[in-house]
Amino acid sequence: MSTHVGAGPGEIAPLVLMPGDPLRARWIAETFLDDARCYTEVRGMYGYTGTWRGHRVSVQGSGMGQPSLAIYAHELFSEYDVQRIIRVGSCGAMTESVAVRDIVIASGACTDSSMNRIRFEGLDYAPVADFGLLRAAYDAADRSGQGLAGDATVHVGLIYSSDSFYPARPELTRRLVEHGVLAVEMEASALYTIAAGFGRQALAVCTVSDHLVTGEQTTALEREQTFGSMVEIALTAGLAAG
Ligand code: HPA
Repeated sequence: MSTHVGAGPGEIAPLVLMPGDPLRARWIAETFLDDARCYTEVRGMYGYTGTWRGHRVSVQGSGMGQPSLAIYAHELFSEYDVQRIIRVGSCGAMTESVAVRDIVIASGACTDSSMNRIRFEGLDYAPVADFGLLRAAYDAADRSGQGLAGDATVHVGLIYSSDSFYPARPELTRRLVEHGVLAVEMEASALYTIAAGFGRQALAVCTVSDHLVTGEQTTALEREQTFGSMVEIALTAGLAAG
């Protein structure tokens, strides 16, 4: 067992899906995995391992924000030999070209966090997704309209991993959009950086739960449905790129 994950050796699969919410981890395990078994309850941050179409898969909650995700990603890579982590989360659309219920696959993640500035001694490292996972996720989601995303539009592009859920700087949001940023969440930048440091694969796939420009929000039922397609996209990509 590592400091924050109560699993024994071999209890976590090489592919891990990582939602922020530990109750989403439980929901994914109960909804998608066969023979799912909970391997950790430390701090209520549940982790499960089961099988999906005969392949072992784990799902681990990360908590909200980059410092929390960094703890779980680091321990999964360093202590459990995890090979790839796919974040499955929600994001807020920052531009009108992205709509609620759309899916955003993050090719790279900007951030206002100081975590990478500290790690790289002031240099601005550019955290990017693993290309094999990214391509597999896009193929699974899109397939020219016949893919797992269904009616939802799939975007591939930059996102913004913010340290604040409640934005204090609307001007900054506008400037980021001018430079191609599509959506905001709070974890991907740390995930991409930590995976790169361990020479492993990472990807963030997000469904748009709310819109920063129009104020529109999804209902709980819509969130569950779009979250389900995203989980299938992540499972398909994670096994294809393995
Ligand atoms: N901000 C940050 N993280 C988010 C948001 C948001 O608006 N929506 C979903 N995750």
